[in-house]
Amino acid sequence: MELYLKEKSRLIQEELEKLLPERNTPYNTLSQAARYSLMGNGKRIRPILALATVESLGGHEKTALPAVCALELVHTYSLIHDDLPCMDNDDFRRGKPTLHKIYPEGHAVLAGDFLLTFAFEILANTSHLSPTQKVELIKILAQNSGGDGMIAGQIMDIEAEGKQINLEMLKTIHQYKTGKMITASILFGGILANADASNLELLKQFGDDIGLSFQIVDDILDVTASEQKHGKSIASDQVNHKATYVSLLGLEKAKEEANKLLHSALEKLHKLPCETVHLKQLAEFIVNRNH
Ligand code: IPE
Ligand code: IPE
Ligand code: MG
Ligand code: MG
Ligand code: MG
Repeated sequence: MELYLKEKSRLIQEELEKLLPERNTPYNTLSQAARYSLMGNGKRIRPILALATVESLGGHEKTALPAVCALELVHTYSLIHDDLPCMDNDDFRRGKPTLHKIYPEGHAVLAGDFLLTFAFEILANTSHLSPTQKVELIKILAQNSGGDGMIAGQIMDIEAEGKQINLEMLKTIHQYKTGKMITASILFGGILANADASNLELLKQFGDDIGLSFQIVDDILDVTASEQKHGKSIASDQVNHKATYVSLLGLEKAKEEANKLLHSALEKLHKLPCETVHLKQLAEFIVNRNH
């Protein structure tokens, strides 16, 4: 899996370079700021999940590349905004100071806005996709990142700060703020490889399981990882008085929940009538990772 991740990351990095080259405009600090965050050492797990889904379903990886990068752009924008002083107020991300520590805060807000908007431009411009595929991708990304998706999760997350919330509420927050973008990534793969409706439904269920487990593990790593290994601020949740799977259930039970979801995710994969070995390994990586 290490090698697979490395190889796919490299492909994505190259595509991102093509999509967002250094530019010489009167406003080039905008792309410099966006590139500062985007070209950091992110895991690229969302576009990789999408590519692995394409591969499983026998689709074309090369054709899919620009579209899957749109997921990484939206994700990176969400990280830039998530770290702002008015949100989680974190100083370290992807192995370096957060964007608002290097550029003025306004630049960080605008770099996020730019990445979000550009993601949709990429989807509209991508060649070798049918108009129907493009509209489906745009719809999936808008719905899962927007006001009934990731952003909804983020607002519930900041509203819950300092409050006692129950596990059900926390699960909802996690499903929205993180799960939905992971599900969108899997569905991207499905659309890019022309999956039929029943396979798309299985893929969605698989995405939902690994999406929630991704955030449970993120909660765990906020407590157990070192800043150096993790590449981002740690103990942020505690500082911000956020409820997490660890604060509500304890470390061991939180790990159990993540493993239960992995098990459930793999059951969904078994039902897919195709080779899914890399998706299986990615699901295992999400739950067992240490960064
Ligand atoms: C961090 O996402 C934010 C969450 C949704 C938990 P990642 O852990 O995928 O961050 P990068 O992209 O590798 O930096
Ligand atoms: C953020 O969750 C989810 C996003 C939409 C960015 P966290 O706030 O826990 O993510 P990290 O730990 O800062 O990466
Ligand atoms: Mg946050
Ligand atoms: Mg955060
Ligand atoms: Mg976190």
